[in-house]
Amino acid sequence: EMKDNTLIVVFGASGDLAKKKTFPALFALFRQGFLPTDAKIVGYARTKMETADFHSRAVSYIQNPDNDEAITAYDDGAAYDVLNEHLEGIEAKYSMKERNRLFYFALPPDVFVPVAKNLKEHCYAENGVNRIIVEKPFGKDLDSARELLRSLKQYWSEEETYRIDHYLGKEMVKNLLVLRFANTALAAGWDKNSISNVQITFKEPFGTEGRGGYFDSSGIIRDILQNHLLQVLSILAMERPVSFSAEDIRDEKVKVLRSIPPITQEDTLLGQYVAANGKPGYLDDDTVPRGSVCPTFAATTLWIHNPRWEGVPFILKAGKALNEAKVEVRVQFKDITQGIFKDITRNELVFRIQPSEAVYLKIVAKSPGLQTQAIATEMDLTYNRRFADAKIPEAYEALILDVLQGDHSNFVRHDELDVAWKIFTPILHWIDGKSGERPKPISYPYGSRGPAELNTFVERYGYHRSPSRYEWPVTNLG
Ligand code: BG6
Repeated sequence: EMKDNTLIVVFGASGDLAKKKTFPALFALFRQGFLPTDAKIVGYARTKMETADFHSRAVSYIQNPDNDEAITAYDDGAAYDVLNEHLEGIEAKYSMKERNRLFYFALPPDVFVPVAKNLKEHCYAENGVNRIIVEKPFGKDLDSARELLRSLKQYWSEEETYRIDHYLGKEMVKNLLVLRFANTALAAGWDKNSISNVQITFKEPFGTEGRGGYFDSSGIIRDILQNHLLQVLSILAMERPVSFSAEDIRDEKVKVLRSIPPITQEDTLLGQYVAANGKPGYLDDDTVPRGSVCPTFAATTLWIHNPRWEGVPFILKAGKALNEAKVEVRVQFKDITQGIFKDITRNELVFRIQPSEAVYLKIVAKSPGLQTQAIATEMDLTYNRRFADAKIPEAYEALILDVLQGDHSNFVRHDELDVAWKIFTPILHWIDGKSGERPKPISYPYGSRGPAELNTFVERYGYHRSPSRYEWPVTNLG
């Protein structure tokens, strides 16, 4: 349930994530009346900043009027005493009876542990609920992730910890659970007997653009596949949870992930963008180390060894500097039994996560008129038409509200993270050059669909391009 009298403390308050995601989400929740009564927000940053400048960084709604203490370190216990006094001051000033504190880590991972430790030792409210929100990266591979989790657990329990994967806050990702388990028609064909292959695709039309430092140390697989796309996969593929409770849902996600063996080199295609159409290549970014072989594109196929999915390839694809901005799931069904029809379009069920949420089923129908001809068309649930008046919340709004309500369903449990790293660690070690020379990614032009080899890659796993050259009508893009 929602706790009144809550202090929300955002660490890394001067950073990009806080500016772009955390504060706007808090503001949106506030405007819609979803923050607890009397919630107060405090920013904490290493960068020294005047209160006025801080406020003008899009946070003028924060009730934090006379904060001019300079708190400049994340590992200095005394600074946390200052913070704690500041928090107690607010709690006293507003006569907050309970002292619930939510600490949001919009921080680089090297300071996670010192901040967690100091908060526990200096800022932990005795008579109230304390929670922390942490953001990826949660380690670089299985061992480092286990080490990080172990360190954090010394101070904060699983119950108190909310690990964000912001894809779990997206409207269409949340919808997957309902679509799958509230529809007999959909549930009926949801297995290897009906489905040929599944693609989960992330496309961004821009490159690293000056943020190459962070990106180069992680690469597209850690940035997108190991977390965001794998989460989508687990919801698509899991068995029906016993209930909608957080532990029941996460039990099923862990179970299906445990049926996936580590990804192999043969099932993986890596790419890196090069300059094209006046746009710079990855290696032209000054923040990228010279000669880097870091992949900015990856396609990789996962196999689920259970009775439902044996033999169905799940292809995860993600790339930067591609031709469009799009995240979608494409479930391609098998060919209809040959005989009365030949070479007709396969059914495809597409969940467009962004932009412009939509679910549509590519189907074959008789062309209207006197002659009988089978044509490809669609059944279409485009949100901005069907739900024209709905306000679709930002992922971060939905997730912060979940934390305030103590709901873990859309957060990553420790064992989920562990198995995610098990699946990806061998391929990451290969890419990092731990077993020899680092593999060289295939070049693709900025603004293209990715490496030219991609078409043959997906066809290898049974994906059929539509023989009728079916195109989703552009007018539906909203
Ligand atoms: C982040 C990645 O997790 O997700 C970024 O670190 C990426 O590289 C971003 O741009 C994409 O999020 P969204 O919500 O814009 O799809």
